[in-house]
Order: sequence, then structure tokens, then C-alpha cells
Amino acid sequence: MSERNGFVVWLTGLSAAGKSTIAGIVAGELEQRGVLVERLDGDVVRENLTKDLGFSKEDRDENVARIGWVASRVARAGAGVVVSAISPYDEARKIARSRVEEHAAFVLVYVATSIEECTRRDPKGLYARANAGEIATFTGVSDPYEEPADAELRIQTEGRTPEESAALVLAKLEELGLLRQEVAA
Ligand code: ADX
Repeated sequence: MSERNGFVVWLTGLSAAGKSTIAGIVAGELEQRGVLVERLDGDVVRENLTKDLGFSKEDRDENVARIGWVASRVARAGAGVVVSAISPYDEARKIARSRVEEHAAFVLVYVATSIEECTRRDPKGLYARANAGEIATFTGVSDPYEEPADAELRIQTEGRTPEESAALVLAKLEELGLLRQEVAA
């Protein structure tokens, strides 16, 4: 029997909220602690597993459903999975949660960066395009984002470094008993 307890940490929030950056730091830290880790990032998944999908509600829900399915399988095998995807719809997130919870813990993290801050950061120039009316269904501008009421953790990123935000995620995983305490040598 494996002693590993798989889990899924699922970061939701607007585009440019900082999800991928925080996810990368969390995954690196988990690896440092000896956890077997896989990442499922929206941009990367869309290049590979969900290339056929766009940004309608149906397609986003399908994207989130596929990510949830893969995450549940990988967590079932005993790994820690770090998901970063906008995942804007509450019901789709809840379906992913219940699918994962058949096998492993699910920890929803709301990366709660304001639309104003995301628009200011705009690393891909997408908010500028969306505000100019060039993207018909851009999350937070011309498409909905449903804030989660069931997040295990809500991170206010403004005024925090990504490392500080990642530390809050790791502290939550520790609090939930999902990480072994580091044993002094
Ligand atoms: S989700 O809504 O289906 O969860 P996901 O996280 O996979 O979205 O992909 C979001 C990424 O796709 C954004 O970071 C952005 O780079 C890109 N993107 C392209 N068009 C859109 C759009 N209309 N709305 C949101 N993101 C978009």
C-alpha cells in the first residue's frame, strides 16, 4: 500500500490574477518536500488536451470537466496536483470537486485579484483587446466570473509577493494535514 495521500489544489481566478505564477512556486515547494507533483495549467492544457475548445460557457465547462477528470485520476494515484485555470463557473468547479473527492482531498484556492489590478497588469494585452471590444467573451469584461463561496482559501494578491501567496497555500495544505511535517534530521 502506498503511504501517499493524493490531493488537488485548484487555483481559480481571473486571467492575470497570478494563478500560474503561484501554482509554479507551490509545485516547486512541494517537490522540495518530496511530494510527487503534477501541474495542470489552463494555457498548457488548452494547447494539448483541450485544443478543440473555445471560450463559450459550454466549452469552458468541458475544459474544467476534463481537467477535473485528469486531476482526479492523478491524485488517486497518489500525487499532488496543482491546477491553475480561470474555471469561472461555480457549478463546473463543484462537479470537479465532487469527482476528485471520490479519491482525494480537493482544496479550492480563490486567487482574488481585482479586475482593476488584472487590467493594469495585462501581461498578454488581452484586457486591452477585450475593453476595445475585440474579444466577445473575455472573463471579467464581457463574460462572467462567479466568485467561489466554497473556497478553502482566498488570497488577496495585491500587496503580496507571489512567494507570500504561495506560502499561504502551503500553510493551508499543512493545516489540512495534507503534508507530512518536516522532520528535523
Ligand atoms: S477556462 O475559463 O476554461 O478555465 P483557461 O484557464 O483554460 O480558461 O484559459 C484561460 C486563458 O486563455 C487565459 O489566461 C488567456 O490567456 C486565454 N484566453 C483567450 N481567450 C480568452 C477569453 N475569451 N476569456 C478568458 N481567457 C481567454
